[in-house]
Amino acid sequence: MSESKLGGQFTFPGTSLTVRRIGYGAMQLAGPGVWGPPKDPDAAVAVLREAVAAGVNHIDTSDFYGPHVTNQIIRQALHPYPAGLVLVTKLGARRPADKSWQPATSPRELIAGVHDNLRNLGLDALDIVNYRSMGSGHGPEEMSIAEQVTTLADLQRDGLIRHIGLSNVTAAQVAEAQTITDVVCVQNNYNLAFRHDDALIDDLARAGIAYVPFFPLGGFSPLQSSTLSSVAERLGATPMQTALAWLLHRSPNILLIPGTSSVAHLRENLAVGELTLSAGALEELDRIAAEPVA
Ligand SMILES: NC(=O)c1ccc[n+]([C@@H]2O[C@H](COP(=O)([O-])OP(=O)(O)OC[C@H]3O[C@@H](n4cnc5c(N)ncnc54)[C@H](OP(=O)(O)O)[C@@H]3O)[C@@H](O)[C@H]2O)c1
Repeated sequence: MSESKLGGQFTFPGTSLTVRRIGYGAMQLAGPGVWGPPKDPDAAVAVLREAVAAGVNHIDTSDFYGPHVTNQIIRQALHPYPAGLVLVTKLGARRPADKSWQPATSPRELIAGVHDNLRNLGLDALDIVNYRSMGSGHGPEEMSIAEQVTTLADLQRDGLIRHIGLSNVTAAQVAEAQTITDVVCVQNNYNLAFRHDDALIDDLARAGIAYVPFFPLGGFSPLQSSTLSSVAERLGATPMQTALAWLLHRSPNILLIPGTSSVAHLRENLAVGELTLSAGALEELDRIAAEPVA
């Protein structure tokens, strides 16, 4: 694997899993509202195949997406999976027929979720499973996650899960989980305009644990900032590329999983490893989080 391609590499701590820092998030492959099949199933398959052909070896997914649809598309596009491809999935929610997102946190639901993911992805074991806490609806909420992490650790001992991560969690929840098992990654909401996790990112970096921002481009509310646009223009890049490049510069333990249903956007996102931000550009981008929301 070339060291510098796609932002360089990262090895999840205590594992043999090494990935390129620019990966892909598969949530956008389901239909509108992350529900049902995509409008253009061939395009969804094309995005996944192009990502892997370009060297992406870290794909984030979930059976909540669709539900099940995204995992089924991944299987259709990529199975049998190339050596070295790391698929990261998450558990902790379910999607009832009203399309809402509801917690699914009992041992029975988590065990069923692992078997659903194994079946839909066509795997005997899952590389990394994140326990995704539902939190308050607006972000993480302090509550014990010991029962859920213990269930995943049991499934790890059974050989169905290789490694465990967490999503939508606080620093205290990471610490609680670490009393039960090794945590290899944390996936929380973070981008250059929303930086609640700055201290957590630095703590995780010191421990060698990956921090994987979800909504790296703002998710359902795409990032918009005149500062971002002007830095991007000087860089000869798009604002979205500049936002991703800032994340790569922010900390060496940050792994990117931007989501897109478009091959053109995928190519733009994969190119950000080539962008270099000057100290001045970084300073300007660092100030965006303090700007009033547009
Ligand atoms: N753990 C969690 O709770 C959680 C929550 C949300 C997401 N996730 C994961 O994180 C991944 C990333 O989050 P996300 O997909 O929700 O949000 P995101 O990556 O911040 O943004 C995705 C949006 O940006 C657009 N986009 C992507 N690349 C672009 C580009 N180069 N130029 C312009 N627009 C672009 C996409 O539209 P197009 O399709 O038109 O490109 C889509 O509307 C997801 O795919 C999922 O795997 C996890």
